[in-house]
Amino acid sequence: MSRKYLIAGNWKMNTTPSESVDLISEINSLVGQQTQVQVCVCPPFTSLQMSSGLLEQSEVQLGSQNMSAEPSGAFTGEISAEMLRDLYVNFVILGHSERRQYFGETNQSVNKKVLAAVQNNLKPIYCIGETLEERERNQTLDVVKSQVQEGLESFPINEVDNLVLAYEPVWAIGTGKTATDEMAQEVHSYVRNLVVDHFGDGPGSGIRILYGGSMKPENATGLLSQPDVDGGLIGGASLNARSFCSIVQSAIEI
Ligand code: 13P
Repeated sequence: MSRKYLIAGNWKMNTTPSESVDLISEINSLVGQQTQVQVCVCPPFTSLQMSSGLLEQSEVQLGSQNMSAEPSGAFTGEISAEMLRDLYVNFVILGHSERRQYFGETNQSVNKKVLAAVQNNLKPIYCIGETLEERERNQTLDVVKSQVQEGLESFPINEVDNLVLAYEPVWAIGTGKTATDEMAQEVHSYVRNLVVDHFGDGPGSGIRILYGGSMKPENATGLLSQPDVDGGLIGGASLNARSFCSIVQSAIEI
C-alpha cells in the first residue's frame, strides 16, 4: 500500500503573527507548489487566520496544535473545530505529549477530541509515545498499545482515510536525541499491526504514521526510509524554513 509522505511542522508556542508571515512565506516559496509530498504547518492559533490567507493558492496545508472536544459554549479560552474549519484549517494535532504532560490530557480526553475532529471534517494527527522511564522499564509497546486503543476508541471506520498517527518518543522531543532508524521502525511496525488488527488490513495499511522527536535534515532520510515511517512531525527544525524544506526534499527524493 503506498502512502503519501506527510511532513508537518509543529511550531508550538513560537512566532508572533508578524514573524509567522515571514516563515510561512518562505516555506511557501520553497515547497508551496510541489505535490509529491504533503506539507502542513501548524502555527499558534493567533497566526492561523493570517496563515490561511497566505496559503490560499498554495499546496501547503494548515493545521492547528490543539482543539476543544466541545462544539461551542461556556468554555473560556477554548477553540472549537468549527472555528478552525472556518479558517480552512485541515489538520489538528491532538494528544501531543506536552498537552498530556502539562495540561492533564489523557487517552480518554484526547479520544473525545479525535472524534470531534473527524465529525467536523478535520484530520487528526493523533500523538502517542513513551517517556524515558517507560522505555527503560521495557513498557514502550504496552504504552503505545493503550494510547492507540483508548485514544481511538469508537473511531469510525469510514473516517480512517483522514486519520494520521504520530509516534513521538517523549525522550526524543526537543532533546537532540533521536530514536535510531531501527527503534522508530520497531514501534511503527507494531503500531501498524495494531491499526490493521483494529480497522482491518485495507484501511489499517493506509494510515500514515509520522515520526517526531528531534527530526532534522541530518537524520530525516534514514528515518523516512523505514517502511512504516510515513512522514515527520517536526518541532524545532520547522521554525527554520530551509531546515524544514530540506526535510520535505528528503521525502521527495526517497
Ligand atoms: P522537536 O522536533 O523539537 O524534537 O519536537 C518534536 C515535536 O514535539 C513535534 O510535535
